[in-house]
Amino acid sequence: MASYSVLLLPGSLRAGSFTTALLKAAGELLPDDIEGELVDLIRPLPYYDGDLDHDPLPQSVVEMRARVAAADGIIVSTPEYNGAVPGGLKNWVDWATRPFQAHAMMNKLVVVLGASPSPKGAINAVEYLTKVFGYLGARVAGESVRFASVGDFVAEDGKVDPSIIDQLRPFVDSLVAEVRNPAAR
Ligand SMILES: Cc1cc2nc3c(=O)[nH]c(=O)nc-3n(C[C@H](O)[C@H](O)[C@H](O)COP(=O)(O)O)c2cc1C
Repeated sequence: MASYSVLLLPGSLRAGSFTTALLKAAGELLPDDIEGELVDLIRPLPYYDGDLDHDPLPQSVVEMRARVAAADGIIVSTPEYNGAVPGGLKNWVDWATRPFQAHAMMNKLVVVLGASPSPKGAINAVEYLTKVFGYLGARVAGESVRFASVGDFVAEDGKVDPSIIDQLRPFVDSLVAEVRNPAAR
C-alpha cells in the first residue's frame, strides 16, 4: 500500500490534451510508495464568486479543498492560452487559495509542468503558476519543466515518446524527495 498520495491535476480540459498526456507520463514515474491520482478538480467548480465563498459552500468546492488538503503533493500541468493559464485553471487557483493564508494550498508541495506546440513552451503560464504558488504559501518543489513543440513527441493518441522520460524523471524526483521528507510539510 502506498504511503503518500500525489494529485495529478490537468490544467487542460481537452480529451486529447498534450499536457495531460505528459502529466500522466510523469505520474507513471512515481515510485510504489507514492500513489498518483489523476483528478479533474477544475470542471466541477463554479466561477469564483465571493458571494458563494462562505458556508454553505458549493459541494464541488468543499470536495476540491478536501482533496487538496489531504494530498501530500500536487503535479499541475498547464497549457498556455493567450499568454496566460487557461481560465478554468486560474479559477481553480482562486478557489484553492481562499481563505487568504488559511487555505488548502498553504505549505502544499507542488510542481508545475507546461507544454505548448509553440517554440516558447508555455513559458508565461508556467512562470505565472510557479510565482503565484510561491507567494500564496505553497511549496514549489524543485524546478518546473516545460516542453516546446510538444506535437513532435506526444502523439494524437496521447502516447509520449520515450525520449522525453529523461526530462520528466528529475522533475518527478524533486517532488518525490520532498514528499518523503516530513520536514517539508
Ligand atoms: C484560447 C487559446 C489560446 C492559446 N494561446 C496560446 C499561447 O498564448 N501560447 C501558446 O504557445 N499556445 C497557445 N495556444 C495553443 C495551445 O498551446 C494548444 O492548443 C495546446 O495544444 C493546448 O494544450 P493541450 O494540448 O494540453 O490542451 C492557445 C490555444 C487556445 C485554445
